[in-house]
Amino acid sequence: MAYKILVLKGDGIGPEVVGEALQVLKVIARRSAIDMDFKEAHIGGHAIDQFGTPMPEDTLKQAQDSDAILLGAVGGPKWDNFNATVRPEQALLGLRKALGLFANVRPVRAVKEFLSASPLKPEIIGAVDLVVIRELTGGIYYGQPSEKRQGKDGREAVDTCFYTEAEIARVLRFGFELARNRKRKLTSVDKANVLSTSRLWREIATELAMEFKDVACEHQLVDSMAMHLLRRPKDFDVIVTENLFGDILTDEASVLAGSMGLLPSASLGEELNGAGYRVGLYEPIHGSAPDIAGRDEANPLAAILSAAMLLEHSLGMRSEAEIIEQAVDAVVKDGHRTRDLAGGSGTKTVGCKAMGRLVREKIESLDA
Ligand code: IPM
Ligand code: MG
Repeated sequence: MAYKILVLKGDGIGPEVVGEALQVLKVIARRSAIDMDFKEAHIGGHAIDQFGTPMPEDTLKQAQDSDAILLGAVGGPKWDNFNATVRPEQALLGLRKALGLFANVRPVRAVKEFLSASPLKPEIIGAVDLVVIRELTGGIYYGQPSEKRQGKDGREAVDTCFYTEAEIARVLRFGFELARNRKRKLTSVDKANVLSTSRLWREIATELAMEFKDVACEHQLVDSMAMHLLRRPKDFDVIVTENLFGDILTDEASVLAGSMGLLPSASLGEELNGAGYRVGLYEPIHGSAPDIAGRDEANPLAAILSAAMLLEHSLGMRSEAEIIEQAVDAVVKDGHRTRDLAGGSGTKTVGCKAMGRLVREKIESLDA
């Protein structure tokens, strides 16, 4: 049976970068005789314009019926009104919740060619190879009540951070299992000196560490973790944390890679039939970059690497994912750069489409 892949191009540069990633997937499908059935649906700001909602019902239905989703980015200045009742971001939060995508996986690896693109010293980031696992369907993003209201002394607002034992345990377990296949080190990040949810988090992390004795487990408070991540990033392997802390730390961690334009992400749900594969949503971590949209200037590599993660996590095809990663490495080594990374000696600046084509040509040549 064909794998059902839903393509949500979204807003801004989303259509351009996902367009390239989709073509890469098609090359892989042909090369490895994988039966993939691609469908497209609307999400984000342009869906608000067209349908009055950032996530039309048909999009949600198709998403629930898919094995994996490849997404570009949502949002833009046109829809950036904090008082609006419909916002593009709601679609993202709704999809995560509806599909149960509780584990957001954001790998960060330093790439030699881009060390100088980071504001951090090359000797600090040189050997960075870590992955942040962010809990994605709980915490303060979803807790109720969450509202602005009229209090007796004027306006007031409330958000609620709420976690159940099961929600915390499943994402930590995911992290421990991942650490087992990496450098066997897990850093659990919380704010246990202040928050009740964090104390429960730490309690459960400590219990699970007894079960995963082959993984070294340490606890860090989120504030000092923010500092360690910049001071000694090489010390970390798998970092697991709750939703809001993860949102903040993953943006911080992206600086370690030299460029946002290279970073993919996966948001994964429960294992399917214990087979190791998970329903997943795959997207570059960069945003919709409306300032360069439609100009063939965007860097499609993060979207292309997200397609690689899709092959690995939702289709269980690690070797196909590796082919894409190798092709991207090779194109970068050859000196091809989109504008975000242009300028190094011996490099050639190319557009989004050309970059996608170069990766595909490289895949075909690896084939030979
Ligand atoms: C992210 C983004 C989203 C989040 C926004 C767009 C709602 O920042 O995926 O990290 O906060 O989760
Ligand atoms: Mg974020």
